[in-house]
Amino acid sequence: MEKEIVVSGIRPTGYLHLGNYFGAMRNYVRMQDEYNCYFFVADWHSLTTHPDTKELKNSVYRVLAENIACGLDPEKVALYVQSDVKEIAELYLYLNMLAYKGELEKVPTFKDKVRLQPDNVNAGLLTYPVLMTADILIHRATKVPVGKDQEQHLEMARNFAERFNHRYGETFPLPYAFNYNTGLVKIMSLDGNGKMSKSENQMATIFLSDDDELIRKKIMKAKTDAGPQENNSDKPDYIDNLFTLMNLVSKEDTLKKFEDDFNNCNIRYGDMKKQLAEDMALFIHPIREKAAAIQNDKVSLDKIMHEGAEKARASASKTLQLIKESMGLNY
Ligand code: ADP
Ligand code: TRP
Repeated sequence: MEKEIVVSGIRPTGYLHLGNYFGAMRNYVRMQDEYNCYFFVADWHSLTTHPDTKELKNSVYRVLAENIACGLDPEKVALYVQSDVKEIAELYLYLNMLAYKGELEKVPTFKDKVRLQPDNVNAGLLTYPVLMTADILIHRATKVPVGKDQEQHLEMARNFAERFNHRYGETFPLPYAFNYNTGLVKIMSLDGNGKMSKSENQMATIFLSDDDELIRKKIMKAKTDAGPQENNSDKPDYIDNLFTLMNLVSKEDTLKKFEDDFNNCNIRYGDMKKQLAEDMALFIHPIREKAAAIQNDKVSLDKIMHEGAEKARASASKTLQLIKESMGLNY
């Protein structure tokens, strides 16, 4: 049986953090044995918010190195850079004719960006979801491992795919956001303000490149409060986030102890954070060391990048052929 096709991308806009790991990369690593996977560095997407390209090249190498350090095997998947696959740009052009200005202006991520960068509301920002759709449909993927913040983009991708199929005939299967266990993951910032991200409060974001001391410092500063006043209370979201992180990196009985303490109103957040900091440091240590070593080996990274692009182009050009036939552009 043909394996299902998987696509996902990460923007090279800075150091990768726990949100990227638990929202996306952890699933990449698990999916590589079961599916036909295409994972890429979304350098075109980064230009919508980061027009200055001084750091870009370094960031591209780092994202590749960090993905490999997390366990991605370039022999098993196509690991490539978006701008190496020109077919994506051609599909982006076709899809732009199916995307309406009104619907693009309503996208919450677009509105956020307009607020964040009022002096640079470029057309690329507006059509960000169209380019993302092209990334996915160019391989006719059905599963897209991403964090919760990308859910709406996936809904748009399905809309564009359906619109294309409706206008030009059945060409694309519909893609869905994917996570192994339950719903999509959202890791909050340690200061309790929104999602953990590359560019917000650096002291509230744990990067895969942080050393043990810095990890301890950041976790000890994480937002808490006086603790629950009644047994079995609901957790405020910033406390829930600490439990989520503990669930991801600590032993089951450690988590259970603190869950019980919380439910009995005996919790000491200082102790919980100390334990979480130690478990987090142990978790990140090998990734950090491995990524640093790989990143220094530019020759191997270049080879991986080129081989990945070949695999991606082989698949993309086949799809583009289909697309042109559907559209009647095959003269
Ligand atoms: P960032 O938002 O940090 O700039 P990207 O936009 O490049 O990162 O996102 C890459 C992947 O990481 C996407 O699948 C995204 O959903 C996921 N991701 C980013 N931040 C988080 C977070 N805080 N929680 C869960 N997933 C996240
Ligand atoms: N938009 C995604 C983000 O900001 C990155 C991305 C670009 C992506 N193209 C994609 C993710 C295709 C999945 C599939 O996180």
